[in-house]
Amino acid sequence: MTVHHSTTQSGAPVTSDAHSQSVGADGAIILTDHYLVEKLAQFNRERVPERVVHAKGGGAFGTFVATGDVSAYTKAAFLQPGVETEMLIRFSSVAGENGSPDTWRDPRGFAVKFYTSEGNYDLVGNNTPVFFIRDGIKFPDFIHSQKRLPGSHLRDADMQWDFWTLSPESAHQVTWLMGDRGLPKTWRHMQGYGSHTYQWINAAGERFWVKYHFHTRQGVENLTSEEAERIAGENADYYIQDLYESIAEGSFPSWDLFVQVMPYEEAKTYRYNPFDLTKVWSKKDYPLIPVGTMTLNRNPENYFAQIEQAAFAPSNFVPGIAASPDKMLQARIFSYADAHRYRVGTNHAQLPVNAPKSEVRNYSQDGASRFHFNSPQTPVYAPNSVGGPAAVEPQIPGGRWENDGELTLAAHSLHPEDGDFVQAGILYREVFDDAARGRFLQTVAGAVSGVKRADIKERAIQYWTNVDAGLGAKLRAELGHQSQSQAEAANKIG
Ligand code: HEM
Repeated sequence: MTVHHSTTQSGAPVTSDAHSQSVGADGAIILTDHYLVEKLAQFNRERVPERVVHAKGGGAFGTFVATGDVSAYTKAAFLQPGVETEMLIRFSSVAGENGSPDTWRDPRGFAVKFYTSEGNYDLVGNNTPVFFIRDGIKFPDFIHSQKRLPGSHLRDADMQWDFWTLSPESAHQVTWLMGDRGLPKTWRHMQGYGSHTYQWINAAGERFWVKYHFHTRQGVENLTSEEAERIAGENADYYIQDLYESIAEGSFPSWDLFVQVMPYEEAKTYRYNPFDLTKVWSKKDYPLIPVGTMTLNRNPENYFAQIEQAAFAPSNFVPGIAASPDKMLQARIFSYADAHRYRVGTNHAQLPVNAPKSEVRNYSQDGASRFHFNSPQTPVYAPNSVGGPAAVEPQIPGGRWENDGELTLAAHSLHPEDGDFVQAGILYREVFDDAARGRFLQTVAGAVSGVKRADIKERAIQYWTNVDAGLGAKLRAELGHQSQSQAEAANKIG
């Protein structure tokens, strides 16, 4: 085996990786030992800030093949029949820090980057079709409530339930979270969802509203709370290991992608507000339409370069796919690219894992760690008369919708069957079976029993009573908790 000599970062040979230069064997080390300085300084800078949410995760590369025909709904090149596209996925959990156990109960991130011929398309979703809130202005507060107390640095059931019960729109997502699917067996055994409503535009410029669903071909399987707790203690990296080893052994996990498609005009009259991220669309109203299959077939070669530095952004759209009036989506369109500029750097999009396979042509320049640049012949401004790149937007019908009304600070408009607890109740009564409802009650009771303040505990019981009266009664009995009125009545008698 040929052994190559090690070098400094600038390529010159180094004489020792074992000994610093010192003045005599027991003497002081010297600043002239620039290799020692370089090595220690580089080490101090190995970390970038962890993601403010979804810090713990893992990922892989793969291929997406468009096996269906959705050309009537979108002109996106990578979704046309038969097209194959390289992709990257990063799975994650939300609240835990980098290093936290994979099997703690939490939604799981399901972030996909498609390296399409028209630029990168990022679908940054979760393993649940809904979310806790419907306005991005609440996101920092929501996340603060799920993370740590500022003083003790402990996670705290009081603030979690205080936030949730004062934000009743969270009920549907919390029902998902506390249900069986809150603990997937592995990342390979869970579904993925785009969650938001997006807009598709076909070649004729016609518009549709869509929701994305990835169905696992490995089958949906979950852990019990006991299994998840045991594994959390035994192997914090259980999901990362499972994904890495499956791919390394040639057992490639795959998912089928479907969409629900809503004709543009129907959004105005649908029974639920279709832009409310706390709601799903009934599959009876909008059945699943097959789009393609995603197969993960390549492990990262370097976790930091390809997964930690991966930058997924809901603002990465391609022609034929656009945003919707969902207020959460609009907040996210700002938030992610901003997070990447801070976390990875101004030029994060130039890193190999983030760079599109299609050519980048624009007038942005410079910034820290820039390494791609335009030729000196390319003008540095637009408009110009010397043949620089020009926008094509007048010819391309893009995403759009009618906006009407005064500037306001109002909630989404309510559609006939909207209500914060309606779909949570349907999930509990109609989707869960008896056994699942039993496990759900135990999980909720376990979580609420950690609440110290009686008024928050009482609000939590009321929250679940609003989801389902029977559930609320069982929870109250389970917690052995007296309602305020019962307590008052008991005091009067006493
Ligand atoms: C990560 C913000 C809602 C899924 C992140 C990050 C930020 C963020 C700042 C870290 C990005 C990074 O440093 O690379 C927000 C805001 C939201 C929101 C402001 C609400 C307005 C959602 C929703 C979903 C979601 C609704 C799913 C449907 C994810 C995923 C990641 C992530 C999967 C990890 C991406 C990765 O693997 O790198 N979010 N988020 N987020 N978010 Fe959100």
